[in-house]
Amino acid sequence: MAKVTGTILVTGGNRGLGLEACRQLGRLGLKVLLAARDIASGAEATSAMHSEGLDVTFEPLDVTSQESIDNLADRLGRQSVRLAALVNNAGIALDGFDASVAERTLAVNFFGAMHVTDRLLPLMEQSGRIVMVSSGAGELEGLAPALRRRFDPPPSKEELVSLLRSFVEDVRGGEYARKGWPGSAYRVSKVGLNALTRLLAEELKERHLLVNAVCPGWVRTRMGGAQAPRGVEEGADTLVWAATLPPEGPTGGFFRDRRAIPW
Ligand SMILES: NC(=O)c1ccc[n+]([C@@H]2O[C@H](COP(=O)([O-])OP(=O)(O)OC[C@H]3O[C@@H](n4cnc5c(N)ncnc54)[C@H](OP(=O)(O)O)[C@@H]3O)[C@@H](O)[C@H]2O)c1
Repeated sequence: MAKVTGTILVTGGNRGLGLEACRQLGRLGLKVLLAARDIASGAEATSAMHSEGLDVTFEPLDVTSQESIDNLADRLGRQSVRLAALVNNAGIALDGFDASVAERTLAVNFFGAMHVTDRLLPLMEQSGRIVMVSSGAGELEGLAPALRRRFDPPPSKEELVSLLRSFVEDVRGGEYARKGWPGSAYRVSKVGLNALTRLLAEELKERHLLVNAVCPGWVRTRMGGAQAPRGVEEGADTLVWAATLPPEGPTGGFFRDRRAIPW
């Protein structure tokens, strides 16, 4: 693990993998901003970290609300916070599959990460790290070949956004299978997040920012369920590794267990 100093912000930090990432980062001696949308559970998680002697501060953040994102960025800006890393961990996996599920899933898993990253970018340190918490479910092999080619190589950000919006419309119109989309909004959201990772990595090379996607594996959390083989300690390890890469570390990759996996 690299010797990293500074402040790291983790979204969805109140429970599951996000909370464990906060704990592991805190134990490395880093200052952690635990961002969560629910005030009560965010504050409770933060005081649990304090009782472990960790330097953790609670920051309210709903990644689907531009106002909430703006408030966070303004607050941090006023305090002259510089971020050594941003971990876009907040995510949802809803039951069912229809246009509303598709829209709500993309709002958190794709647009949430994109909007938070865009707004916090000015606060990132040179050689800072951006971690997109993705999933093996987002591997391109889940798409029909013709559609896969539209994500690989990734199109421009504008085209990516309109491609993902077209997914919602294809679900609404009952056309998604014919267009090559899988019947899972979660998968599509993570395919989009992976494509965004590749675009940002390229775009931010000049600023020496390291942007990577990680898959934690199948982990016992509220999302992963009790049957998952991994505990949060193991699942959060690669998130923490990617958030603490040395300046010469990889960028534009997808990693599980600290090893590169295919897009
Ligand atoms: N567990 C797995 O097996 C697994 C596998 C692959 C990838 N992942 C990914 O790992 C990440 C963390 O998942 P997890 O397993 O820890 O799930 P989890 O226990 O369900 O936690 C999800 C976190 O996301 C937060 N969140 C949801 N919507 C939000 C919003 N609009 N704004 C801010 N925070 C929001 C939740 O906050 P609330 O408490 O307020 O709902 C919670 O803190 C997700 O991106 C997930 O896709 C998990």
